[in-house]
Amino acid sequence: MNQEWWKQSVVYQIYPRSFKDSNGDGIGDIKGITQSLDHLQNLGADVIWLSPVYRSPNDDNGYDISDYRAIMDEFGTMRDFDEMLIEAHARNIKIMMDLVVNHTSDEHPWFIESRSSKSSPYRDYYVWRPGKNGGPPNNWGSFFGGSAWEHDPATGEYYLHLFSRKQPDLNWENPQLRREVYDLMTFWLDKGVDGFRMDVVNFISKDQSFGDGVVGDTAYGDGGPHFTNGPRIHEFLHDMNQEVLAKYDTITVGEMPNVGVEEAKLYTAKERQELNMVFHFEHVDVGNGKFGKWSPQPWKLTDLKTIFTRWQKGLEKQGWNSLYWSNHDQPRAISRFGCDSEEYREISGKMLATCLHMLKGTPYIYQGEEIGMTNVQFESVNDYRDIETLNTYRDYLAAGLLTHGEMMKAIHERSRDNARTPMQWTDAEHAGFTAGQPWMAVNPNYRYINVEAAMRDQNSIFYYYQKLIRLRKENPVIVDGGYELLLDDHEQIYAYTRTLQEDQLLVICNFSAERPLFTLPEGLTRTRAELLISNYEADDEEDFRSFRLKPYEARVYRLK
Ligand code: NOJ
Repeated sequence: MNQEWWKQSVVYQIYPRSFKDSNGDGIGDIKGITQSLDHLQNLGADVIWLSPVYRSPNDDNGYDISDYRAIMDEFGTMRDFDEMLIEAHARNIKIMMDLVVNHTSDEHPWFIESRSSKSSPYRDYYVWRPGKNGGPPNNWGSFFGGSAWEHDPATGEYYLHLFSRKQPDLNWENPQLRREVYDLMTFWLDKGVDGFRMDVVNFISKDQSFGDGVVGDTAYGDGGPHFTNGPRIHEFLHDMNQEVLAKYDTITVGEMPNVGVEEAKLYTAKERQELNMVFHFEHVDVGNGKFGKWSPQPWKLTDLKTIFTRWQKGLEKQGWNSLYWSNHDQPRAISRFGCDSEEYREISGKMLATCLHMLKGTPYIYQGEEIGMTNVQFESVNDYRDIETLNTYRDYLAAGLLTHGEMMKAIHERSRDNARTPMQWTDAEHAGFTAGQPWMAVNPNYRYINVEAAMRDQNSIFYYYQKLIRLRKENPVIVDGGYELLLDDHEQIYAYTRTLQEDQLLVICNFSAERPLFTLPEGLTRTRAELLISNYEADDEEDFRSFRLKPYEARVYRLK
C-alpha cells in the first residue's frame, strides 16, 4: 500500500453499545467486537471507526468522556481493548478511534477541578463567563435543547455546553489544554491505533466575543456562525497535525457540521497538513424543513446530485472526499434514501451501495448497512433512548412547536435511534445481540433481516457489498478516476462516469420504483460495454446505450 492507503480503504463504523454483547448485560462490548472481526474481514473492511469506548457516564452514549485513558466499564477493560487491536491488526484491519475533544463529561476530573473555584489551574480549560442581565452570557441554544450555558452556583458563573449540560465545552484558547489533547492522542497512537474520527472538530475555535446569535423559529439564538469553522480552527488543526499526527501513519476525518466545499479544501489539502478528509452534512440534510430534521419534507434527487457533484468536483484536485449514507446520528440509509418496503429493501440497498461506492472518496459503511437494516417505529416515545430525541420531544411539545403526532412521525423518519437499535445477528431472541435484556429494543424485523440469513443467501446485500469492495481493490479507476455527472436534471436516474486515462466506468442508478428510460448522452461515443456489477440478473442482449431501468436498478459498465 502506498502512503495514502486511506484513499483505497473502506471504513466500517461500529457503535459499540449496539454491536455485540459478549457477557449478557444487554450492552455491546469490546469482546463482542473481537468475536465479530471475522464478519468484517469477510466483508472486506480495511478500517474500523470505533465510536467512543472511553470511560463515560453515558449522558450521550460515550460522547461525554470522563477519562480519555480508560475504557468504559460496560465495554470491558484495557486488556480487552489491546486484544481487540491485536486481533484486528492480525486481520489487516486498522482501528480509527473517535476523538471527542470539543467537550468532555462534566464528570471529567478537569471539569470537577475547573468548577471548584475561579482560581483553579483548570478553570481556563473550559469556557466560563459571567451572566448578563440576570441570565446567561448570550442567547445561544444548545443542540440538545435549552440554553447553551449552565449557571454554576459554586462560583456564580456560567459554563458553555453546545451539547448537553453534562458536556461542557473545552477552551481551546488555552495552550495547556491543547497540550493535554496532544498527549492523549499520543497515548492511543503509541498503543498502535491507526487514526481518529474527530467529533464536531470544526466547533473547537470559538469567536471570543461570544455575541448573540440570530433568533429563528425556536426561543434561542443560533450560535453556529460564532463557533463553526472559527477564527483559529486551521491554526489549531495544523498545530495538532505537526505536534502529533505527522509523527505517525494515520487516517483522520473531521466531523464538520456546516462545512462547505471551499472550507473543506482548506481542511483536507495535503500540503496544508491538517486532516485527510471531513464529514460534511449537505446530502444528509436534504429535505430538512423549518425545524431541520424534525420537520422533514420530501427531497429531490436533483438536489442530492447537485450536492454530490459539487463535492466530487470541488475536491477533485485538492483534498479528498469521505462518502457515507448513514452513521450513528442518521436514520438508516435504505429508509432515508431508498425504499424499505419488503419488495424493494434489498434492491434499493444495493443500488445505494453502488451509487456511493463508485464515487471518488473513501466509503464508510455503518454497522448493519451491509445486511440492509432499516429504521424502527417504536410506538411509544418511552422506547427511545437518545438524549437528542427525548429532549427535543419534550421541548417541542412544551413550546407548542410540534404536536405529538408530528413529532413521532419525525422520530420514525429521522431519530438517531433508528441507527442505534442493536445489530441483528440471528433470528434468535433479541437478534442474537445479547443473551440478556438489550439496553434498547431490537427492530422486530430481525426475524428476516440478520447476518445469519445474509450469509446463507448468495444474493444478499452482504455479498453485494463484498463485491463492491473487491472491485475497488481491483480497479484503480474507482479510487483515482475523474467524475462527470450525466443527465443532470433527471429526477429518477443518477448517472455518472469515472475516468482514468483510457479506462472509463459508467454508473447508472435508478432512485425510484418506476421504470425510467436511460439514454446515453451524445458526448459518450464508445459502443461496447462490459457489465461490472448490477443488482438485477444481467441481460446481455440489452443495448447499454438505451434501455428501461427496473425499480431501483443499478448497473456499472466498463466502456470499451
Ligand atoms: C457528534 C456525534 O456524532 C454525536 O453522536 C454526539 O452526540 C455529538 N457530536 C456530541 O458529541
